[in-house]
Amino acid sequence: MAIENNENDYSKISPTAKITAYWKSLSDIPYSKEIAIAVKAEQTARQMTGDRIEWSKGFSPSGFEARYKAINYGLRKNGIENVMELASGLSPRGLEIISKGGIYVGTDLPEMYNESSKIIIDIAIREGISLNNLHLQSANVLDIDELENAAKYFKGKKFAICNEGLLMYLNKDEKSQMAENVRKILMNNDGCWITTDIDFKSWGEAIIKLLGEHMNEVIKSAKENISNQTDTDILKNDFANKPEALKFYKNFGFEIEEYPMYAGDYILSTVHFIPDNLKERFISTLKSFSAFILTPKR
Ligand SMILES: C[S@@+](CC[C@H](N)C(=O)[O-])C[C@H]1O[C@@H](n2cnc3c(N)ncnc32)[C@H](O)[C@@H]1O
Repeated sequence: MAIENNENDYSKISPTAKITAYWKSLSDIPYSKEIAIAVKAEQTARQMTGDRIEWSKGFSPSGFEARYKAINYGLRKNGIENVMELASGLSPRGLEIISKGGIYVGTDLPEMYNESSKIIIDIAIREGISLNNLHLQSANVLDIDELENAAKYFKGKKFAICNEGLLMYLNKDEKSQMAENVRKILMNNDGCWITTDIDFKSWGEAIIKLLGEHMNEVIKSAKENISNQTDTDILKNDFANKPEALKFYKNFGFEIEEYPMYAGDYILSTVHFIPDNLKERFISTLKSFSAFILTPKR
């Protein structure tokens, strides 16, 4: 399936990487603070989310900490050392992977890549981390040639593909194209695809359940606001429910393993941001979210 690529459109999604970089910087995720300071992530987060930022501060730091760490858990669980991250934005994961001796290929759209690669490389140099296994590359997830080029850095070694915070911005045709691309790349490899993005609708629904029906409008308007700024329709991009989402990806020839985004096996470093009266219930909500490992049937 050919999707018309218009990188100017997709690039409107790129500033959202600074919002997630800001939330992560409030956690103990290694290198997240250095990255957020370098890109003035808080400033962009304030501009993009407006008044909602104070309200979000109660929940987003833990949500994004758990999401990031869930991908790392999936990588460990599968014994994966080498990683290709798609739509990596300002992810600190590359610095973590190469510090442990793995190969990391981080990919994003040209504009984001130009900004983030310099920052990540500067931090690696400052921290005395060898750059030999760090590869940052511009690649659109909808472009198989760009992805195949990025995959060449692994030189035939096993690697996993991961992404977080992308699929909600893609419509069904774009999700299909990306799934086909990921499958094609993994078919030449023994790896898998690890993502937290498949069932995005449940996140909003769970927050409404936690905080009350009045949140329906708040969540809807937050999603509309992000949609307007990114020129996407994240409400329309959602699947109706989790079974529908899983069926969609199974139809591309993936076997899917689901695991909790947060299993409660470590204490979230951002737990103090959660309002005391909602702490227990919000943590249970996080435990109800899933991350997914998709393995192509070979
Ligand atoms: C919400 S940010 C997430 C960034 C990072 N994964 C994280 O969790 O912090 C979304 C990212 O998707 C990237 N993106 C959007 N459309 C893309 C596409 N078609 N191909 C590659 N990256 C894309 C944006 O540039 C941006 O960095």
